Amino acid sequence: MSIEIDILNGDASWPIAQPLLSAVWGRDAAEKPSWAHVKWANANLRVLIETPEDGLVCHVGIYFRTVTWNGQKVHVGGIGGVCTREDRRGRGYATMAIDAAIHTMRANEAVRFGLLFSEPDNFAFYQARSWLPFRGEVYCEQPEGRIRFDYMAPYVFNIVRAPTLGTIDLCGLPW
Ligand SMILES: CC(C)(COP(=O)(O)OP(=O)(O)OC[C@H]1O[C@@H](n2cnc3c(N)ncnc32)[C@H](O)[C@@H]1OP(=O)(O)O)[C@@H](O)C(=O)NCCC(=O)NCCS
Repeated sequence: MSIEIDILNGDASWPIAQPLLSAVWGRDAAEKPSWAHVKWANANLRVLIETPEDGLVCHVGIYFRTVTWNGQKVHVGGIGGVCTREDRRGRGYATMAIDAAIHTMRANEAVRFGLLFSEPDNFAFYQARSWLPFRGEVYCEQPEGRIRFDYMAPYVFNIVRAPTLGTIDLCGLPW
């Protein structure tokens, strides 16, 4: 089976990614998550995994951002919107797409660490892939102003260093 891994401009590839994201996080979810009202950043890049038989099966958004950690500016690589088509899970697609995202972050020499936000269901998935829980506080922007972001748990990935304590300000919308 051949698979294709593309890393495309986030805005340009939105029409390709959108049906998969809607299928996974669609409005028809029985219970609205606590973060349903959150305004999210748009991905700068997207990792898309496609197969000839199934088309798009997996998506990971990549976000480059200068955040602050304890008041110091630091450039990070975010990942978000990690999802695999429901009937194609457990085949290593998300692992591959996350690896491709980390590879892309490493290629950006300014990036110090990776940063993602996870729900409890996926803590073990990320910890098994060397992401570490960030135990400090995270702030971000929303249309109403700066808020503490505690809807999901932050995880960091060591590229040059990975802080696990302190205060991170995303200096913009979350992902
Ligand atoms: C979380 C999610 C992205 C994982 O996608 P996936 O493509 O199934 O992930 P992978 O196949 O890479 O890994 C999943 C599991 O399958 C296993 N696996 C990997 N390759 C495999 C293979 N070839 N055959 C069987 N199992 C395999 C992995 O070991 C992993 O198990 P583990 O969690 O015990 O380590 C997917 O379940 C999903 O879309 N969930 C809904 C959206 C979501 O919650 N996203 C996360 C936002 S933070």
